[in-house]
Amino acid sequence: MNESTFPGTEHVMGHLPVPEPAQPISMPPTTPPSSPPRPAPTAPRGLPDNYAEMPKPTAKLTAEDLAPVNDPNGPRHKIGPTGRPQPDLPVPQPPTKTGPAQVIAMCNQKGGVGKTTTTINLGAAIAETGRKVLLIDFDPQGSASIGLGVQPHDLELSVYNLLMQRDITPDEVIQPTRVENLDLMPANIDLSAAEVQLVQEVAREYTLQRVLDPIIPLYDVILIDCAPSLGLLTVNALTASNGIVVPLECEFFALRGLAMLTDTIAKVQDRLNPKLEIVGILGTMFDGRTTHAREVLDRVVQAFDERVFHTVIRRTVKFPETTVVGEPITTYAPSSQAATQYRDLAKEVLARCPAG
Ligand SMILES: Nc1ncnc2c1ncn2[C@@H]1O[C@H](COP(=O)(O)OP(=O)(O)O)[C@@H](O)[C@H]1O
Ligand SMILES: [Mg+2]
Repeated sequence: MNESTFPGTEHVMGHLPVPEPAQPISMPPTTPPSSPPRPAPTAPRGLPDNYAEMPKPTAKLTAEDLAPVNDPNGPRHKIGPTGRPQPDLPVPQPPTKTGPAQVIAMCNQKGGVGKTTTTINLGAAIAETGRKVLLIDFDPQGSASIGLGVQPHDLELSVYNLLMQRDITPDEVIQPTRVENLDLMPANIDLSAAEVQLVQEVAREYTLQRVLDPIIPLYDVILIDCAPSLGLLTVNALTASNGIVVPLECEFFALRGLAMLTDTIAKVQDRLNPKLEIVGILGTMFDGRTTHAREVLDRVVQAFDERVFHTVIRRTVKFPETTVVGEPITTYAPSSQAATQYRDLAKEVLARCPAG
């Protein structure tokens, strides 16, 4: 799909509540595929105004940073894959109480960047720390459900029913998974109808938030696996969330379309959900052996600075394998590098979320 057009975006964005006088929000003009992403008119909170310009990175590391890690007289830091000193992140302590949940949307309108893989494996890694975690499959393709061993076409009730039928309660839809502390609100192709049907609803952007309200006290973290679009379902996910994690595949076109995403985030912040924050940008499918992947990551750090997670998820065939077996990497290959990376990401996410 040509992600510079985003079918369906215009009608959704055109229906966001707009201050007087009511007029459709004009989306940025489509950019030809070869041109760099357009900077959004104003950068969303926490991002530099020039975040889309992406100048060549300059080394910001001091000689101290670059000293060997095991030098007993040297500094404690080592350089991580993002080219910055790697912080020592605290091991998350088990929580003393449950809830209220942090709600985090995994969002990038580009498909195949690692949203679903991150939802499942970050969720499982947080669940390992003793926190109660709910994963919401919010993609009609049902990939998060499949990745946890649930067959979407066998479902009697899914997140679709919760959105569209007021007499259905979350406990009728939520299922436990094989992973302790990890529950799933599954989805299937029915959800694609919600994108259309919700347009008729009053306060349509708040529908998912209404569904989640009663279960916020029951979980510590709720992760929403968004569909690869910026349509009404994704706007619902962003409206119901406190935070966003943006997975970016470490390849040449990774930053393309990001201006459109940050523009949508800024609109949701302004008009629907002022508490929404970008928790972090996550480099995925990183191949450290190629200078190309390192260059892409350098540029992402240049553009988003401290918003980029220190943790990077490396490319490995283990992830496609976990989809086949229907379980997270943390249980399928608990001592693999890939499992360690998602546990590190869990530490970073919990450290960045105030109630973590
Ligand atoms: N770090 C990784 N290394 C190798 N393959 C990966 C990695 N992360 C995800 N994948 C694979 O890439 C494909 C797309 O990932 P997915 O998480 O479904 O992306 P999205 O949800 O953004 O469409 C899947 O087949 C998945 O198994
Ligand atoms: Mg997906």
